[in-house]
Amino acid sequence: MTLAVLLKQDQRTRLFFQSRIEDSNLRLIKFGILALALALIFSVAPNSAQQRQSNNERRINALLTRMTLAEKLGQLQQLDGEGDGNFRPEHRELVRQGLLGSTLNVRGAQRTNELQRIAMDESRLKIPLIFGFDVIHGYRTIFPIPLAEASSWDPALAEKSTSIAAIETYSQGVRWTFAPMLDIARDPRWGRITEGAGEDPYLGAAFARARVTGFQGRDYSAPGKILACAKHWVAYGAAEGGRDYNTTDMSEQTLREIYFPPFKAAIDAGAGTVMSAFNDLNGVPTSANPFTLTRVLRGEWKFDGFVVSDYTSVKELLNHGVAANDKEAAQAALNAGVDMEMVSRLFNQQGPELLKEGKVSQATIDEAVRRILRIKFRLGLFEHPYTAEAPESDSLLTRANRTAAREIAGRSMVLLKNERDTLPLNRAIGSIAVIGPLADDHRTPLGWWAGDGKPDDTITPLAGIKAKVSSKTKVGYAKGCDTLGDSTAGFAEAVALARASEVAVVFVGETSEVVGEAASKSSLDLSGRQMDLVKAIYATGKPTVVVLINGRPLTIGWIVDNEPAILEAWMGGTEAGNAIADVLFGDVNPGGKLPVTFPRTVGQVPIYYNHMNTGRPPDANSRYTSKYLDVPWTPQFPFGFGLSYTQFKIGNLQLSAQHIRPNGKLTVTVEVENVGRRAGDEVVQLYIRDVAASMTRPVKELKGFQRVTLRPGEKRRIEFTLDADSLGFYNREMKFVVEPGEFKVMAGSSSEDLIESKFVVD
Ligand code: BGC
Repeated sequence: MTLAVLLKQDQRTRLFFQSRIEDSNLRLIKFGILALALALIFSVAPNSAQQRQSNNERRINALLTRMTLAEKLGQLQQLDGEGDGNFRPEHRELVRQGLLGSTLNVRGAQRTNELQRIAMDESRLKIPLIFGFDVIHGYRTIFPIPLAEASSWDPALAEKSTSIAAIETYSQGVRWTFAPMLDIARDPRWGRITEGAGEDPYLGAAFARARVTGFQGRDYSAPGKILACAKHWVAYGAAEGGRDYNTTDMSEQTLREIYFPPFKAAIDAGAGTVMSAFNDLNGVPTSANPFTLTRVLRGEWKFDGFVVSDYTSVKELLNHGVAANDKEAAQAALNAGVDMEMVSRLFNQQGPELLKEGKVSQATIDEAVRRILRIKFRLGLFEHPYTAEAPESDSLLTRANRTAAREIAGRSMVLLKNERDTLPLNRAIGSIAVIGPLADDHRTPLGWWAGDGKPDDTITPLAGIKAKVSSKTKVGYAKGCDTLGDSTAGFAEAVALARASEVAVVFVGETSEVVGEAASKSSLDLSGRQMDLVKAIYATGKPTVVVLINGRPLTIGWIVDNEPAILEAWMGGTEAGNAIADVLFGDVNPGGKLPVTFPRTVGQVPIYYNHMNTGRPPDANSRYTSKYLDVPWTPQFPFGFGLSYTQFKIGNLQLSAQHIRPNGKLTVTVEVENVGRRAGDEVVQLYIRDVAASMTRPVKELKGFQRVTLRPGEKRRIEFTLDADSLGFYNREMKFVVEPGEFKVMAGSSSEDLIESKFVVD
């Protein structure tokens, strides 16, 4: 019985009684009816979910008894569409014969409906297809790259952007996104650092939860919701040397404490699918790894959705050298726990023989089919296989979506430096020079994965600034140079423009082609002649603001040492230019914080805040300590760092107890006050350190954060809770334990600007 029916009945009963009974009795009866209705709702709701579940399992069993081996293996196959989003001619026949379970990159309601109609009307068992696509940070309305969104330290924004992306995606017939990307990345050489939430497991887990919830909602069969895919399982971000697809090798502790948490959070939030990765992990490639795919994911975490391999990663087991031929590759992946194979076709080609030879059991194949069908049922595909073919403008790039993109981009920016009140700029300024290769670039703000985002839709920084300033302001533009190449031919024009203007804003960084997949770099310096351009503009003596447009931390020491103002704007999406102008002119007071450490030089990489101590911690006065001879051991900008146009004071750190039990809880409170003259946001961060334990522990670990908006003079108490989950770690026996002893508690505005206190677990 639905809630609406119950309420309607409740209303009717009320009307009936109202005319007959005295007021005092009525209240009692009203209360009784309400209680009865609530009891019914609460007893019916879980049952109906359970009911649905067991109905689905019954239907799956019925299908499994009818399916041929070829049809079963067909469900395990996912194939790629054409570059333009259409399906391939061969897909029709494969679908008709029940030999294809899913496609990727096929999109558009008409196209997906056309192929789906073949599955539903012409195939023997009428099992719907599931269409997948990489919707990483927006479908048509593109939001800031995930690394930028994580800089907001406001997971609610990520939930908002993913829920908007879900609605746009759904309208195009796609019901499954290969996102969120949850790889922790401690190495900015790795181009895919742009797709994740940075270096920290706690922040990563918060964003994982938010993104899964945004895509899927509470029930992903609802209209406008799509299925999420937690990827890349696992440790893909730890590629040696930052070189994409490279080997990873690490202790189980590091795996469990650093790389697992965002995935665990995603599974707990209900993520229906997981993607196995490309990398080798401790000698066993992650697309053939029974420990990660079965023991942890299914065994420990009770994940009951399905695992899709990454693009041809099953076939790549041959290159890894853990399979001598296609048959061994299919065997290894299937037996380890990969359910659906993306693009390569070894499950289909080798499955029959593997079964005949007893190398893969019928139960293993059935289990993979069961998991895929379970998700198709949960998605409601059997009941609603088609998508309404409405005009695109109804759902894509609506005014409301653009507004949200602008707001989120503004809140994702990080102010890295601001001396002599260079920022914000006055919008009534007489003249402004907009300079640099990324000042009017339409493609770069969209980042690497840009869904169906279109450069023509992008507001560039130049356009955003023009729209912001008063009609009397002269806005000049000079590109100066490209991001690549050696030409300085445009320098003279740029310098002349800066000289003739009151202020120069220089947009430098990297284009979307050099971030993302297969975009590893050995240098983090500004490419081409960009740094020379910055220096040439600086030499004019005009006040200069440097705006970074990039997808990874860059090494910008000279700029930090010399320029008065630096804004990290990242790749901000469709509305990037408007959002940048909002921040430059002070309509938005920047409040983002870095989710990743900025090194001074690439030689310091990997450099991250939550490292272990050494036996010889760095000491400037002692040679035989852990440091470099030619560069400080400290980062350029630490994790959690970011300024504002106002100032904050964080103080009065208090703990609810000095001693707690290992399974106890502790409340930490701290005061934050806006001591400046503008309203603004501060992200209050909480860190701990387990001072002495049976294993080495990080010098700091983030365990709480809160972004707050305060008016000038406003003060707020922030409360955090520490419990066993926050204080424990994996010991030598791989048990999660809280060990007795002293803990430090630190709170502040970045991982390096902290006040501290301590308590004891006993
Ligand atoms: C990437 C995945 C992506 C897949 C499908 C692969 O190359 O590693 O992240 O989901 O392609 O596009």
